[in-house]
Amino acid sequence: MKIIHTISDLREVLNDFNRPAFVPTMGNLHAGHLALVRQAKPLGDVTVVSIFVNRLQFLPHEDFDTYPRTWEADCQALQAAGCDVLFAPNELELYPEPQNFKVQPPAHLADILEGHFRPGFFVGVCTVVMKLFACVQPRIAVFGQKDYQQLMVLKNMVRQFALPIEVLGGATLRAEDGLALSSRNNYLSAVQRQEATALSQTLHSMAQALRAGSTDLATIEQQAMQVLSARGWQCDYLVVRRRTDLQTPSTEQVATLAIEQGLVVLGAAKIGNTRLIDNLEV
Ligand code: PAF
Repeated sequence: MKIIHTISDLREVLNDFNRPAFVPTMGNLHAGHLALVRQAKPLGDVTVVSIFVNRLQFLPHEDFDTYPRTWEADCQALQAAGCDVLFAPNELELYPEPQNFKVQPPAHLADILEGHFRPGFFVGVCTVVMKLFACVQPRIAVFGQKDYQQLMVLKNMVRQFALPIEVLGGATLRAEDGLALSSRNNYLSAVQRQEATALSQTLHSMAQALRAGSTDLATIEQQAMQVLSARGWQCDYLVVRRRTDLQTPSTEQVATLAIEQGLVVLGAAKIGNTRLIDNLEV
């Protein structure tokens, strides 16, 4: 595996290839990331992973400074997963001057859910991904489905800018108790880690209610909030949405979409200081 820190070195190495398959990450890699690398590998003629903790997508009070950085372990894991090129620019390399040109995703996709609770998050994500795409010029890019809204926003970005890149989602990997793998799980104490399973359990209960024919979204969502709040969580959202555009389905649509597998339940909630997100397609 080649480890590369500059855009010019990256371009030189990738010159020999036609179909880079790319997995952008912020490092602190877990089995979920490595599964994305394995998914990407057979789809391209070179597998590129980036590690860059992108300041632009963090709010001032968020965890940019403390975001876990585990460089040695990440390198070893990527090598074992078959990564060919690891692109790890520092901030000055990717943002040598203030990044004033930004990608502004549309409000109906990016100011809801995560974007509502983390204003500017998707501007930061789209801007860095656009820039990483310009560096790597991939033909395939793979993102985790755990960040469901991020995947949707990025698919729309690629389509609207007519970028010649196929964007694929990779399935969420889970611990045995159902907790979705995430770098932020590292922040959890042992007791919080045990409790954390309640988020995916609650999403399961919501999905089950929909599959059983309930169309009363308000009740499903409120009950879910109550369950988690009673266990000490601070809930940002626990909602049922259409898969296609993450908008709220009408009551008439709920039953049909539940049968046609056109719904997704999404949740974000804090346990202690750690904010976890998860989703389940229904
Ligand atoms: O999902 C992530 O890790 C990040 O949001 C991404 C896509 C690498 C952009 O910084």
